[in-house]
Amino acid sequence: MENTLERIYADAMEALASATDVDAVSDLSTQYLGRKGHITHYLRNISSLPVAERPQAGKRANEIKRSLEGEFKNTLTRLANVSKTATDRIDVSLPGRVPEKGSLHPITQITNHICNIFSQMGFDVVEGPEVETDYYNFEALNIPKNHPARDMQDTFYVSDNVVLRTHTSPTQPRVMEKQPPPVRIIAPGKVYRCDSDLTHTPMFHQVEGLLVDRHVSFADLKGTLTAFIHQMFDDQTTLRFRPSFFPFTEPSAEVDIRCVICRGKGCRVCSQTGWLEILGSGMVHPAVFENIGYDTNRYTGFAFGMGVERIAMLKYGIDDIRRYFDNDYRFLSQF
Ligand code: DAH
Repeated sequence: MENTLERIYADAMEALASATDVDAVSDLSTQYLGRKGHITHYLRNISSLPVAERPQAGKRANEIKRSLEGEFKNTLTRLANVSKTATDRIDVSLPGRVPEKGSLHPITQITNHICNIFSQMGFDVVEGPEVETDYYNFEALNIPKNHPARDMQDTFYVSDNVVLRTHTSPTQPRVMEKQPPPVRIIAPGKVYRCDSDLTHTPMFHQVEGLLVDRHVSFADLKGTLTAFIHQMFDDQTTLRFRPSFFPFTEPSAEVDIRCVICRGKGCRVCSQTGWLEILGSGMVHPAVFENIGYDTNRYTGFAFGMGVERIAMLKYGIDDIRRYFDNDYRFLSQF
């Protein structure tokens, strides 16, 4: 009988040594110490032993029981700790975390798209400074000192003769004074105006265009801008040239497209007119050529300027320009 007890003990210890997780140890505990377990069973049957053997067997059985209880408990704590460190450990076989892929800002994408369309038509992309002199921003463009466009309300003055450019048009005289005709350029960039609401931000983007050569006519302007708008929106887009005024072009026209939202029926975006203004344009004013020193008898040209945010808003159907500047990842990641 005593041998039986020692064998149970030895078996229990052996099984415990090879138990690798908490569940296995719990099972062993039930198997040996539970109500129907081997040790419990042994203790219950002590009364069937010869009287002389009972005290010794009972004593030993209780020692083994306590010893096993201790062993099970220690093993459980050890395994619990092991499995905790296992979850903390780095599993080098796991696939890595893929860094989120960035993308170009929608305004950059539209600017690139505009430049690509004109590049394919043979225009060179140039850039001019954002901090500009009064001369290039106004004077050279036939905007005299008392012109309303110089109103303090619109222009950010750096000093008396230096401004943050209010449009990309100063790139026109800057390019022309460096080279003789023919000129065929597109100039994207940031511009600044003291204005802020749903459709205006103090900084926004424009793309300027200028083409100067012999025999350039208004028909060339119309053809070029029509080709551009058909590529930018779609080739079914209807457009119209509406007479307008700019000091640096004569004649001047603003270009409207059929509202891309309501297709001309009239809606909130087009103020019920069915049309959306998308750019300013015209034939370069002779006074601008004279400031540069181009021969107005030999050369004519056309120019145009468009707001990138405005085109992006129309293309993506976004009605608050400030979205483009909030840097809200949820907004930007859609493009
Ligand atoms: N510079 C004008 C503006 O910011 C836009 C513009 C109109 C540019 C007519 C041009 C042009 O080159 O010919 O409102």
